[in-house]
Amino acid sequence: MGATTKNTTDIAELSPERIVQLGLGFCASKTLLSAVELDLFTELAASPLETEALRQRLGLHQRGARDFFDALVALGVLERRDGIYFNTHETALYLDRNKPSYVGKMLQLANTLLYPTWGSLTRALQTGKPQNGIKDSEDLFDTAYSDPASMAQYAEAMTSASLPIARALGQRFRWVDYGTFVDIGTAEGAVPVEIGHAHSHLTGGGFDLPSVRSVFEAYVQRHKLEDRLRFYPGDFLSQPLPSADVLVMGHILHNWNLQVKRDLLAKAYTALPKGGALITYDQMIDDERRENAAGLLMSLNMLMRTQGGFDYTAADCIAWMREAGFTELSRERLGGSYSMVVGIK
Ligand SMILES: C[S@@+](CC[C@H](N)C(=O)[O-])C[C@H]1O[C@@H](n2cnc3c(N)ncnc32)[C@H](O)[C@@H]1O
Repeated sequence: MGATTKNTTDIAELSPERIVQLGLGFCASKTLLSAVELDLFTELAASPLETEALRQRLGLHQRGARDFFDALVALGVLERRDGIYFNTHETALYLDRNKPSYVGKMLQLANTLLYPTWGSLTRALQTGKPQNGIKDSEDLFDTAYSDPASMAQYAEAMTSASLPIARALGQRFRWVDYGTFVDIGTAEGAVPVEIGHAHSHLTGGGFDLPSVRSVFEAYVQRHKLEDRLRFYPGDFLSQPLPSADVLVMGHILHNWNLQVKRDLLAKAYTALPKGGALITYDQMIDDERRENAAGLLMSLNMLMRTQGGFDYTAADCIAWMREAGFTELSRERLGGSYSMVVGIK
């Protein structure tokens, strides 16, 4: 069969639809991110609305409003019945700002910071350099924490990303065997608060840069856990880690290059008592590096936002933790694209 004939047969049998949809995936993504930015789902949680009322409530121009709302219907994040727009069960639960389950803070960060940065992916791939404006001498947190409002926005976004993992962590580890724990790089403290709520015998808290204290303490007080959870101020790049029976490192290792990853694991080993445990979690890439797209894309995100950060497989993490001295190493899926690795000193 000649090349032209074969090509014609392929075209008849194989649709380009999937490739084209993947290439245009940013259109759907930005439509959702703009809806979150406009707080559309919170407005509809207060009262379902017809097109014109919803348009006016959000301050939109007439030209695109109806297509925008109906695109959200077609994308499965809104419902329309008799001309009235409603949240779906999912968006009512997760995108109404007034619910504790709101995940919009992370999507707002995606809208304002990640979406523009991802426009420079090709440049990041060509240069190996971050594309978020950080200088060679800076790390992500020097710019993310340039003022208290940006720091609070970042910390709130981490809470919204980490709550489901924190709940899984509360259930998947034998906390009854331990009395104290510290979450290393804790942000607002979503992880210690969830674990503290699930296990009333535990005390401990969260370690982070001193500037994070105010948001941590406010969050812990809102959850009425200040008698059992406290803030540990410090810089894990230049100082030792606090001691506790269990240390947790979630979304930490992937921010840093291999040497810093190894140094942090060594510091955790030193800080733990004999028999103590280190729990690490991230969107760990599958060992074959072909299935966990979210983990691989997160690693590209680290390429664009940090000096040397990258995501890794559970096998990588186990090898680094073994080098640091940990034994009884085990891995477990935490739900979604997340896995944890646990090691014992
Ligand atoms: C990506 S966030 C992870 C937050 C939280 N562990 C979670 O999973 O939601 C990284 C955290 O590391 C903290 N961090 C960054 N550099 C640090 C340093 N040098 N010392 C202590 N904490 C640091 C940041 O302030 C931030 O709270």
